[in-house]
This record gives sequence, structure tokens and C-alpha cells, in this order.
Amino acid sequence: MIFDALLLDRLRSANNVVFFTGAGASIESGIPTFRGGKDSFWVDFDVETFATLDGFLNNPKQVWQWYAQRRLQIQGLQPNLGHQVMARWQAKASKVTVITQNIDNLHQRAGSQAVLELHGNIAQYKCVRHHPVTTSVDLTVSEPPLCPQCGTLIRPNVVWFHEALPASTLNLAEIASFESDVFVSIGCSMDVQPAASLPYLASQCGAYVLQINPESTDLDEYAHCNLRGKSGEVMPKLWEAVWGECL
Ligand code: APR
Repeated sequence: MIFDALLLDRLRSANNVVFFTGAGASIESGIPTFRGGKDSFWVDFDVETFATLDGFLNNPKQVWQWYAQRRLQIQGLQPNLGHQVMARWQAKASKVTVITQNIDNLHQRAGSQAVLELHGNIAQYKCVRHHPVTTSVDLTVSEPPLCPQCGTLIRPNVVWFHEALPASTLNLAEIASFESDVFVSIGCSMDVQPAASLPYLASQCGAYVLQINPESTDLDEYAHCNLRGKSGEVMPKLWEAVWGECL
């Protein structure tokens, strides 16, 4: 793979790099994306049922079991080469921020530090009144437990549709985006706001925007460079080209 000289130059000289990831960054670990492919979640499962508060309140048992099953599946999967490259980049370069829409914890398991999780984390829980659950949660129970503080249903600590993103995390992500010299969007369909606005914010503030995705998205025309390929294949090659080292 031959990379554009300007891209390599910008990456080598960057003081601040942002890696911004979506479901496409985890598909090579075995987690389906939400949209697009035939095995995508929102092709097989109803968004209103499985990704809204009303869906949960209407079918708590079914939604609880769906997330418990997903969590167990994710626990058995491993970070892929794309995650590993991002973690190594963070250890090597001066300032690298990982912002993710993914809830799967794979960046952290690959070694990335201080990951900004815009859509929460499937391994964490809170009640519907947002009291955090600090004790371990038994995934074998078939119905959501009740919050010891207020008695409401416990749910996964993920952001569902029509819900606000965690304000402090979004704020840090916006700051990292507008301070970035290079902003790399990896495996994001750019269909879900407000996360999808981050690359545009970075671009408006002068960042060089690189997109890595096998398919085109709305970001194509704004990105300075579009690399059509898979995260787990492009990222190791990009690492070698920028740092002159094999993984
Ligand atoms: N490498 C990189 N990108 C890939 C790969 C791959 N190997 N395979 C697929 N993609 C791309 C697809 O082309 C698509 O553009 O990943 C993108 C996945 O898109 P979505 O499924 O829409 O995922 P995402 O953008 O993360 O969704 C945003 O939607 O339902 C919500 O909360 C959920 O965080 C999620 C949000």
C-alpha cells in the first residue's frame, strides 16, 4: 500500500493525534457493525426495542438478556491489529487521544489509556435513574436486578437513542478534536450525531482528516485523505510507513 506523502508527513510531525473509532474498528474482532452488512445488528434487531429506554421499559427481560449475551460474547473476543496499532501509537507519539463510539472495551484491552467512550461501556451498569452500580452484576439472572438505592431497574451503562451523551466525555472529545493536528476516523458510518460532528469540528480547526473505511461515507468529501480498506489491514501498514518499524 502506497500512502500519500503529505499524510505521512502530517502524521510524523503531529503533536496531537485523535483516533476516532466506530463499529468498523471492531468487526475484525468478530463484533458485527450496526448498519450496512447483512449481519449488522440493526438489520436483525429492532432499534426501538433494543436501543431505546422505552424499548427496555416495555421489554426489560428481553433487552436485559440481549445485552447480557452480547457482553459475554465480547468477553470471549480479542482486540484486533487495528486496536493494537492505536495503543502502540499512544505509547509512542507525544499526544494521542482515542475517542470511541464502541462499548466493547477492546481499546482498553489492547492497552490504550484514557479512552473517551462516547456511548458508554457494556460492562458497566446503572439504574434507569442513573445511579451507578459499583458491585458486580450477575449475568446469569434472566431479569434486570433492582437498584439498591432507588428500586428502579438496572440497565447497561450504554447510550441509547434519544439519550444524551455523557457531558464531560463529550466535552473532552470536542476539546481533543479541535486541538488535533491529525484526526483519523476509523470504521464510522457517520450516521449518528453528535459523535459524527467531531471530524468536521477538527477539520474546521485546521486538522488534517484521514478516514479509514472500506465503504464511502458522508465524510469522504471533507476528509483530506480516504483510505478504502479494513482497519486491521490498513493500520499496521500505516504504522510501518510512518514509524519505519514492523509491528
Ligand atoms: N474497517 C473499518 N471500517 C469498517 C470495516 C473494517 N474492517 N468494516 C466495516 N466498516 C465500516 C462500514 O463501512 C461502516 O461505515 O464501519 C462502519 C460501521 O458503521 P455503523 O455500523 O453505523 O457503526 P457506527 O458508525 O459505529 O455506529 C454509530 O450507532 O447504533 C449506534 O450506538 C451505536 O455507536 C453506534 C452508533
